Amino acid sequence: MTPRSRIIGTGFYVPEKVVTNFDLEKLMDTSDQWIRERTGIVERRFVEPGVGTSDLALEASKNALKNAGTAAEELDFIILATLSPDYCFPGSACLLQTKLGLKKIGALDVRTQCTGFIYALSIADQYIKTGMYNKILVVGAEVHSNALEMSTRGRDISVLFGDGAGAVVVEADESGNGGILSTHLHADGKYARELMGEHPGSIRHPRVTPEMLDSGELNAYMNGRAVFKHAVVRFCEAIEEALKTNNVDIQSVRLIIPHQANVRITEAVAQRFGLTLERVYSNIHKYGNTTAASIPIALAEAVAEGKVKQGDNIVLVAFGSGFTWASALIKW
Ligand code: UT7
Repeated sequence: MTPRSRIIGTGFYVPEKVVTNFDLEKLMDTSDQWIRERTGIVERRFVEPGVGTSDLALEASKNALKNAGTAAEELDFIILATLSPDYCFPGSACLLQTKLGLKKIGALDVRTQCTGFIYALSIADQYIKTGMYNKILVVGAEVHSNALEMSTRGRDISVLFGDGAGAVVVEADESGNGGILSTHLHADGKYARELMGEHPGSIRHPRVTPEMLDSGELNAYMNGRAVFKHAVVRFCEAIEEALKTNNVDIQSVRLIIPHQANVRITEAVAQRFGLTLERVYSNIHKYGNTTAASIPIALAEAVAEGKVKQGDNIVLVAFGSGFTWASALIKW
């Protein structure tokens, strides 16, 4: 019998420093009202200087391992999704591996931005179904704060993002009682320029110039309205694909856990499927958009709050830079 992948532990970690919309008002021409009304964000967490993505990933991983009752030494593989690795190279998964006190197991970074966690989970699922690995740590972690320009020039991006990490431990399960039922991964690279961090990249010679700093070109760019429009459509498509593949009705889904990009996207998805907001998880008011970390943070919170119980169907869904979009249906 082909084993299924079961999530046996969840955990998350966010830095202690809380940055409110009112704090941002002091740094740029923005307002608590604008940020709340357009995004649902009230506050976010920022790391202290010297704390990197692998540090947040480590804390989230320790929490997930504890929740799973698993020692780090039992892991066979690590997958870490991030768009903000500690260094250009090597990958942050390698750094996490050594911080966990491990020496040999493989460690892979995934670079699909907001959908990174679902892509990473899907990779873990395939390794488990083929029998290659038994226990895999899957993490989403980001440090955005030191890449945000805290001025009016940077406000369209800087008010949206926060730092944090979430993790799960995935294990092979032959009981036949649920687990990850399916994952669905998509991309359309023709929209790459609609949401991107262009520099430092290999296409430019030299990769970084002082002019890039002065002009603000080092900041991420997002065509917010275009991304919003595509996001609502692709979120709904990806959810429908997961339901149809497994012949599951939306009413049998206990909770949808969407990537936390904008509460208005979450509300549009709930409305499209005729769900009350209790069935579409939202914590963007506390953490902002934490990219690859947002789904595993939300999942860990939902589990801790008792909103996901054994036997429940849950759907994870994400959309973001690439464009990429993805979903997963899990029987808990
Ligand atoms: O995680 C990856 C996926 N990301 C997403 O899915 C995000 C999708 N997009 C969005 O969530 C929204 O488009 C945003 C929240 C980014 C922006 O909301 P919007 O309603 O689309 O606003 P807008 O970009 O059309 O800007 C409206 C106005 C502009 O002024 P004018 O041109 O109307 O005079 C902006 O300059 O708001 C201005 N603005 C701001 N004002 C105060 C932009 N940023 C700010 C700000 N504070 N921080």
